[in-house]
Amino acid sequence: MSGLTAPKGTFDTLPPESAGFLAVRDTLTAPLRRAGYGYIETPTFEDTAVFARGVGESTDVVSKEMYTFTDRGGRSLTLRPELTAGLMRSFIEHRLYSGALPVKLWAVGSAFRYERPQAGRYRHFTQVDCEALGVDDPALDAEVVALAVQGFRDLGLRNFELLLTSLGDATCRPQYRELLVAFLADLDLDEDTRRRAEINPLRVLDDKRPEVQAQLADAPLMVDHLSDSTKAHYDAVRQHLTDLGVTWTEAPRLVRGLDYYTKTTFEFVHSGLGAQSAIGGGGRYDGLSAALGGPDLSGIGYAVGVDRTLLAVQAEGLDIAASTGVQAFVVPLGAEAKRFAVRLVGQLREAGVPADTVYGDRGLKGAMKAADRSGASHAVVVGDRDLAEGVAQLRDLRTHEQVAVPLGELFDRVRATVGR
Ligand code: HAM
Repeated sequence: MSGLTAPKGTFDTLPPESAGFLAVRDTLTAPLRRAGYGYIETPTFEDTAVFARGVGESTDVVSKEMYTFTDRGGRSLTLRPELTAGLMRSFIEHRLYSGALPVKLWAVGSAFRYERPQAGRYRHFTQVDCEALGVDDPALDAEVVALAVQGFRDLGLRNFELLLTSLGDATCRPQYRELLVAFLADLDLDEDTRRRAEINPLRVLDDKRPEVQAQLADAPLMVDHLSDSTKAHYDAVRQHLTDLGVTWTEAPRLVRGLDYYTKTTFEFVHSGLGAQSAIGGGGRYDGLSAALGGPDLSGIGYAVGVDRTLLAVQAEGLDIAASTGVQAFVVPLGAEAKRFAVRLVGQLREAGVPADTVYGDRGLKGAMKAADRSGASHAVVVGDRDLAEGVAQLRDLRTHEQVAVPLGELFDRVRATVGR
């Protein structure tokens, strides 16, 4: 063996645990499909400019964490660190805005960030993404948030919390920023933090160090300086959320890792995950389309981390993976029986019954072991002698009871019996 392993910060999702991953992914997307969102697939890599301009050059995601490479044609490409910017690029390129608005989209797929790996933080991870583009209506913000909540609820999750705030917009954020910069200028901060404050002062609010937090107790907060229109917008979002039965915690210091957010901004955190507690996040991004060269249109959306949500499901001890194994397992003894088994499995599968048989020369003992391991409720055991007598043995793998069934009735009997 060459000793090759999955790259640092990545992992393989193997059966049978992979059934949990699929269940989480599909449960999170189901509310979007039910709500009429359309499926979109975009490339896993984009021109680097999509993220540099979209996510923001001052963010850690763009400045430190991107997998950027030059292709053989000399283009600078980047593996997507998130899905929103690429979806917006596609929305603009295909002029989806010229049809009925809002355009509602969902996607699911890989994202890549060169982060320091730890539990729940990987270099390759999977996001379920939802975006509603082209209309700025507080009811749409509430819909999007409620769809994420629905996905978590459908999984049976209880220990998660919605953190909500408004980050203002071009009518009030610049004034607030000045206030914050003036406030930060009087603090005792190290050089690095000062530099960060110059690029994006809001991010300093997110500094976890106690000595910094202690100085921030009286920092001005965006929610206290919203313009009348963004305040009214935020009030309406909260009213709609209440009407939809969604509860939240006000999080005036919430800082997201991406620069495109305006107005409604949120994160979902789970209490069972330690440091990497965010299972999802999102918000409104009314400047993103224009930043990518599109029309001045708004958008709102979120992404949920499938891997972290699976950890949350496990932390709550939820059993979500529906049995993905087979229901019927056919054990042939002899050459004739082998042909019979292959044909029967084919017919069962065609009829929608999950079925399997043994391959390779396993002998009766090995074959029965394979039947047990398959998770099937019943086995059909059939030997050449049975065939000559026109019967097969239908064996309940849990009770070990076995009955001889005439071949003419076998298919219907198996179909009616398995999985019960
Ligand atoms: P984000 O908060 O950067 O937002 O990521 C969303 C979720 O992806 C996180 O809450 C987390 O569950 C998961 N995630 C992020 N980084 C990692 C990682 N290194 N390892 C494992 N899971 C991770 C966005 O990506 C925005 N595009 C969301 C959005 C959509 N905003 C508007 N529309």
